[in-house]
Amino acid sequence: MARVFPTLGYQTIIFFLFSCCLISLVFGESYGYARTIDKKFFGLKEEKRSHFRVYWHDIYSGSNPTAVAIVQPHNNSSTMFGFLSMIDDPLTEGPELNSKLVGKAQGFYGSASQEENGLIVIMNFVFMEGKYNGSTLTILGRNKVFLPVREMPVIGGSGLFRFARGYVKARTIKFNQTNGDATVEYNIYVLHY
Ligand SMILES: *[C@@H]1O[C@H](CO)[C@@H](O)[C@H](O)[C@H]1NC(C)=O
Ligand SMILES: *[C@@H]1O[C@H](CO)[C@@H](O)[C@H](O)[C@H]1NC(C)=O
Ligand SMILES: *[C@@H]1O[C@H](CO)[C@@H](O)[C@H](O)[C@H]1NC(C)=O
Ligand SMILES: *[C@@H]1O[C@H](CO)[C@@H](O)[C@H](O)[C@H]1NC(C)=O
Repeated sequence: MARVFPTLGYQTIIFFLFSCCLISLVFGESYGYARTIDKKFFGLKEEKRSHFRVYWHDIYSGSNPTAVAIVQPHNNSSTMFGFLSMIDDPLTEGPELNSKLVGKAQGFYGSASQEENGLIVIMNFVFMEGKYNGSTLTILGRNKVFLPVREMPVIGGSGLFRFARGYVKARTIKFNQTNGDATVEYNIYVLHY
């Protein structure tokens, strides 16, 4: 008896190892709803590094605002904690609003800090020009709006920006404290295929 069990154990281990190998050879890493696929499937070429510079116009004033406050702050503290604005802001090639439109910044931002000015920003840059027309970049990050330059991550993208990752540097060019209108220069640094 003493000899049988060690032998059985050994055979059992071999059997399991073999059947696992066989299953993964035949099915890959497959679970019915999930599978691994070859990188050729994506048709990816060399990874590129791109820099874009656009001007973002947040317009609260006038009869055609591109930014609207959708949730009021929870109290009137200086950080306006809790406020939310929805935006559909033009992105232009130059700093003037009437310069060439290259896309839109669609999303929302709000005050997520009770102690200092810190916004949570969630937006898609939807490009409308040239070969990037229809492609999007998604930016999600923290924006301490009164710093001269703020950095936020680019967490993904679509179209020509599939698998994109990177960051933006945002620098306020103009800000009207009376009506809230702002122009911000966005330098976008992104890795994509
Ligand atoms: C904040 O201030 C405005 C204007 O003074 C007032 O109308 C509003 O009710 C205040 N909001 C809160 C939450 O206290
Ligand atoms: C606003 O609300 C925050 C969080 O509840 C509180 O800490 C703060 O003291 C309030 N500020 C004012 C001006 O009421
Ligand atoms: C961008 O694509 C849209 C929809 O495909 C098209 O209507 C529009 O004319 C294009 N714009 C430019 C500048 O190519
Ligand atoms: C700021 O906004 C106010 C109110 O809309 C306006 O009267 C003023 O001219 C604006 N300032 C600048 C520098 O555009």
